[in-house]
Amino acid sequence: MDKKSCPIGFFDSGIGGLTVVQAVSKLVPNEHIVYFGDTAHLPYGDKSTAAIQSYSVKICDVLLKENCKIILIACHSASAAAFELVKEYVGSKAIVVNVIDPTIQYLASKYSNTTIGLIGTKKTILSDVYAHKITYLNKNITLKSLATPLLAHMIEEGFYDNTISESIIANYLNANELQHIKALILGCTHYPLIKPQIEKFYNKSVEIIDSSEIVALDVKNILFENNLLNLSNKITKDKYFVSDYTKSFEETTRLFLNKKIELLHYPLWE
Ligand code: DGL
Repeated sequence: MDKKSCPIGFFDSGIGGLTVVQAVSKLVPNEHIVYFGDTAHLPYGDKSTAAIQSYSVKICDVLLKENCKIILIACHSASAAAFELVKEYVGSKAIVVNVIDPTIQYLASKYSNTTIGLIGTKKTILSDVYAHKITYLNKNITLKSLATPLLAHMIEEGFYDNTISESIIANYLNANELQHIKALILGCTHYPLIKPQIEKFYNKSVEIIDSSEIVALDVKNILFENNLLNLSNKITKDKYFVSDYTKSFEETTRLFLNKKIELLHYPLWE
């Protein structure tokens, strides 16, 4: 099989990672997509590192069976907890990409001697992965971070553009931990949906960094540099697997992908 026509594999704790699929598909529309949402184990934001690592490895088996040329960890919590392990596990069988490193590179290219904010799940924030990687840049960037666990649930319930979400967002962003920042990283797959409300809150005084857009650009570059871009039109259907199927998951996918998709049930442990 020609490697160029192989799919890009994405995985997430659930369906929020579809925001990354959306951003990637916009830039490289010919690429086939295989997506795995671990809906049986969500949220990853409250799970232990060991649990997320074992789910991630299982999911990689599925994506490798589907011949994915790239495995994109489309989840900040899994990127924080399992990237190194997944990379080692997958080896040379596929290129492994996470949603954190491209954002760190973006920061390095644009900021120094300043303070940046980060919001995400408890797992992402408590892992300190962003802080470590930023320190390593040696750019005198101070990171201020805040776990905002309610936001993902709020968005999944459809509260992302009304007064309720506006006041929850304001409550979090007014916290002491996030004051005097130059930019704010949206460190969770769900947050692109509330980007307009966050922008409104800061009224252009803070740059809102949407990692899904940055990661999509990174994926495009990786495909190009490795001569893996699919230049022919799509011939097979994209696949969207979930480890636990419910009609409500299927309906919620519309929020993240702006189109109706069919979810295929793929239990991780039989
Ligand atoms: N996908 C997760 C992330 O980006 C958010 C939802 C969860 O906690 O599983 O961190």
